[in-house]
Amino acid sequence: MFRIVDLIIKKRNNEEFTNEEIKFIIDEYVQGNIPDYQMSALLMAIYFNPLTEKETLDLTMAMLKSGDEIDLSSINGIKVDKHSTGGVGDKTSLVVAPIASALGVKLAKMSGRGLGHSGGTLDKLESIPGFKIEMSSTDFFKQVNEIGLAIIGQSANITPADKKLYALRDVTGTIESKGLIASSIMSKKLASGADHIVLDVKVGSGAFMKDLKTAKELALAMVQIGKGAKRDTVATLTNMDQPLGCAVGNSLEVIEAIETLKGKGPEDFTTLCVELAAEIVLVSKIANNIDEARRLVIDTIENGKALDKLRQMIIYQGGNPEVINDYSLFKQAEEVCELVYENDEEMYVDSIDALKVGQASVLLGAGRTTKEDEIDHSVGILVHKKIGDKVIKGDKIATIYSNGTKTNEALELLLEAYVLTNKEVEKPIIIYETVR
Ligand code: URA
Repeated sequence: MFRIVDLIIKKRNNEEFTNEEIKFIIDEYVQGNIPDYQMSALLMAIYFNPLTEKETLDLTMAMLKSGDEIDLSSINGIKVDKHSTGGVGDKTSLVVAPIASALGVKLAKMSGRGLGHSGGTLDKLESIPGFKIEMSSTDFFKQVNEIGLAIIGQSANITPADKKLYALRDVTGTIESKGLIASSIMSKKLASGADHIVLDVKVGSGAFMKDLKTAKELALAMVQIGKGAKRDTVATLTNMDQPLGCAVGNSLEVIEAIETLKGKGPEDFTTLCVELAAEIVLVSKIANNIDEARRLVIDTIENGKALDKLRQMIIYQGGNPEVINDYSLFKQAEEVCELVYENDEEMYVDSIDALKVGQASVLLGAGRTTKEDEIDHSVGILVHKKIGDKVIKGDKIATIYSNGTKTNEALELLLEAYVLTNKEVEKPIIIYETVR
């Protein structure tokens, strides 16, 4: 057979792997026959010598076959899955999934944990007291049939290869690779068994893809993989040049998602949620065109049905639904530190480096820096001033919620993240385009 060291050298020399070599790497890694240090070296070689289209497809299929594929046929109706490539303050699934399911779409959703500077839906949901992200497949199907929605952790046997690789990439600086991201996301989405897939591909400083060109390449790669597997797949390219909404950190983001379902969310975040939910509604053929889909989505927020759906999901998954009305039921951070603008000159926010804001929240304990790290759900950052906002003396720019861990370092990073100017700045657009 192959020797892993030869395969590391092969990729280091920028040669293309055969399908057999890719299958060997994935099978042996899942079985524990390739140690993390060799896998890390291979991932770094792939980072510098990107996977070809064929390698990406072969890797997706090898990861898909590394575990079980979920059969959703016992769930009635149209099943849609949604996935984001990851950003800062990206709590979109917590809003989009309840909206779509309130409109009749079935979402049997398996979500992930935080990755690098970007948060994960599971970590956010676990900030709700009592909320369980693990359940048997029988209970999972039952819940989706009864209320149309469940968000759980990836079960041990869904793409175990991705589970191991994802955790390793998180701590070895090897996330930002088109082929690795596309195969990671699409192997999971194909294994999860949905009829249609809606992808949110983030672009900008807080995303893994920093520019529109590479993000579009990633979007096209994923749409092609989805279509090849006979799943209707659309990918919306969206702005991640600043944190999405205002909240970054687990319970803070859940609160912002609840506010958004109450119709009181930040403008950029609400716009994005409406658009992605509308894409899900459209792909499910509940609306005839995107305008009608948007209208249905907005009505579902306004009439409270989307918020009810979130409440139902929290109850079914063992969480305390009272958090929806009483945010003090979330674990509270001990320290609250305000970043206040002290100068006389009126300024505008020119840019906010979302990556630095994400890193600051990880420093506070909202994310992991090693595979073993425990998340602190109560810490994070509220960004009060966003790109284009005017700042005058005494204005609060941001608030840090901490439990005493690295508060000053987080504050330094936050200060570095903000760039002010004395010229007016236009608010950035949130949605670039949708690849179908
Ligand atoms: N989300 C995933 O599931 N995988 C990646 O590689 C990046 C974002």
